[in-house]
Parts: sequence; structure tokens; C-alpha cells
Amino acid sequence: MTIALPILDVGPQRPSYAQGPRSLGSVRLLRLSITDRCNLRCVYCMPEDGVSFYDRKDLLDARQIVAVADAARSIGVSHFKVTGGEPTVRGDLVSIIQGLKALDPDDLSMTTNGVLLPRLAGDLKRAGLDRMTISWDSMKPQVFQALTGRRGYSLNDLHRGIEAAQDAGFDRLKFNVVVVGGVNDQEVVDFARLTLDRPWTVRFIEYMPLGESQLLADGLDTANLYTVDNGLVADRIEQALGPMRPIGQAENPLGGSTGEPGEPGVGPAQVFSLPGARGRVGFISAMSRPFCERCNRLRLTATGQLRACLFDGGEVDALAALSRRGGGGNRKQIIEQMARCVAQKPDTHSGHGGWQMSRVGG
Ligand code: 5AD
Ligand code: SF4
Repeated sequence: MTIALPILDVGPQRPSYAQGPRSLGSVRLLRLSITDRCNLRCVYCMPEDGVSFYDRKDLLDARQIVAVADAARSIGVSHFKVTGGEPTVRGDLVSIIQGLKALDPDDLSMTTNGVLLPRLAGDLKRAGLDRMTISWDSMKPQVFQALTGRRGYSLNDLHRGIEAAQDAGFDRLKFNVVVVGGVNDQEVVDFARLTLDRPWTVRFIEYMPLGESQLLADGLDTANLYTVDNGLVADRIEQALGPMRPIGQAENPLGGSTGEPGEPGVGPAQVFSLPGARGRVGFISAMSRPFCERCNRLRLTATGQLRACLFDGGEVDALAALSRRGGGGNRKQIIEQMARCVAQKPDTHSGHGGWQMSRVGG
């Protein structure tokens, strides 16, 4: 990293919680990572040279992925999120979306870096994708290039992707902004301002030290310098744009079941609106305020591991319950593996996760 901007503050101490939910009944969202590969190398996510990616032959095929989703659907999981790596680099993405849509979830969404959307957004909409979350970490072309690892994609490519998504009918877009101290923290007000006249949700994510990444190249000691407490981000936004109003359950029929401020989907973000704004701002504060106690998600990796926690713990192989060569899977066995997996959830996550997001699927 060569960029040096002043940081807002250093990472805070994390509170810890007594219990995380450990029953299948608490699971509302299944995150399906369909590949660990990516066409970018975001500095907070991957080493510069990429990681040693899974062998392609070890990736689940579309029918196996849908089989796990089908098992989840049968026990009441209502929300599916397709993630990566970068899901748009997988050639059969559209048929995976079609297969998931056929399970009739309440909500089918995808997280993407957006740069391949110009050629995919229309097909994704027609396949039944309800919503998209797009990663967008800087409005400055050079910072964008540096943050995404200089892989030949520019901020213009992202803008074209966002336009394509809107043209295809994805109007209530969500954006993820990973705030990295000293890199893009000066842009948080500009990002929040986007919500004033657009129906978008901009979510600020605290940087999490996960796996190997360019930010962790010097070891864990540096991680605290990069994690910016979302409380400081919120303060800065309110000073510039006025007081934020929490979005409650009543305005948010799909929100969490806990009465916490929610948003469409069942995400961990605390969501607010700025005075007179059409859109919303959200805060995902996994480091300063872990939300393990109301975690309602389960993850499937691209090679068929179930994971209960983004950071660590509860890793169970679902592969044995899945047949190779287009056979789908055994629903009963998959459900048993899911139950074993959530039973192993940690009380609260540790300070450093063993796998990077591109492997676990966010
Ligand atoms: N810390 C915080 N957010 C991360 N993401 C990827 N790695 C990290 C990390 N270490 C974000 C991406 C994407 C979402 C799935 O997770 O930017 O928006
Ligand atoms: Fe790719 Fe997403 Fe990781 Fe960036 S954060 S390198 S876009 S998987």
C-alpha cells in the first residue's frame, strides 16, 4: 500500500457476548459462495498474487449448490445470498440463480464487485435475482485502483456496472463500503450523501482481519490501524449531513426478528436514514460491536463446507451428503450436517479469522 491519508482513529476494544444462536431454527439466511476466484484483488481481502485457489474440479456444481439451498428451504430458510470470491466470474451463474429462484425464496440476492455487470445484469434479472449488493470503496479513480489491486478494472467499469444494474431494473441497490483507516475514511460523507436523492442503501463495513490479505502482510499488529470504529464514521456523517433516524421494524417487513433496526434482507447492518433522504445508510460493525448474539446465517463454501461463523468455528463438510455428476444431494443428510454446523457456533468471534472472505463467502 502506498496511499497515506490521516486515519479517523485506531480500532476499538471489542465487547464480547455470552451466547450465539446455535439452533437450526434461528437460521434465516444461507450464504452460498459459488467460487473463491475473483477478477480483483482488494487489499483487505486477498494477497497481491491471489491465494492458492481451489481446484476447479473441486467446486460444487450448480445442482449440488441448489440441493443445499433446497435442504435449507425445507427447514424454513427464506433468504439466499449468492457470493464469492466474485460470483460473476463463474460461467453458470445465471443457471444457479434460476435454480435458486425455483425454490421460491422470500429474497434472492447477490454480492458482487460490479465490474462484469454490463454483460450480465439483464440475464440476472430475468433469471429471478431480486437484489444486488455492489462493493464500492472509493470515488477517487486512483484510490479505487489501488484498493482493488490494479487488475485492469477502473472506477469507470464500476460506474458502467451500476448503470447496467439500474437499467436492468435493480433500483434499490445496496453498496458495501469497507472503511480502511488511512485509505478511504475521508470519503464516508460523500458516500452517505449518495443516499440523499437515490433509493440506495450505503453500508459502511468495519475492516475485519481475515485470512491473508495485503493489509495483513505485516502481521496482525497492523490490523488495528486499519479498522475504523463505525461509531466515528456515524459521527462524521451526522456532523456533515444531520441527525440519522433509525429505520425500525414497521418500515421494514423483511427485517430481523429481534426488533433491531433492520433493512430489506436479514442482514446484520444497523440502518438509518438521513434528513430528507430517499435512501439509507447502514453500519456493519463486526469488530466494535459483534452481532453474534443475533446471527441468523449459515454459509456454504464453494467446495461444500458448511460454516457457522465468518471468522472461525463450526466447519462441517456437506460434501458427503452431495452426489457428484449432477445428482443433487440427500436432503435429510444435508439438514443433519447443518444442525451439526450451527451447534458449533462460537460464543463470539475472535479477533482474526483464519480464512479470507473470498473463501468463506462473507
Ligand atoms: N473486512 C471487511 N469487509 C470485507 N469484505 C471482503 N473482505 C473484507 C474484510 N476483510 C467485503 C467486500 C464485500 C463483502 C462481501 O465483504 O468488500 O463487499
Ligand atoms: Fe474480489 Fe470481493 Fe475479495 Fe474484492 S473483496 S478481491 S471483489 S472477492
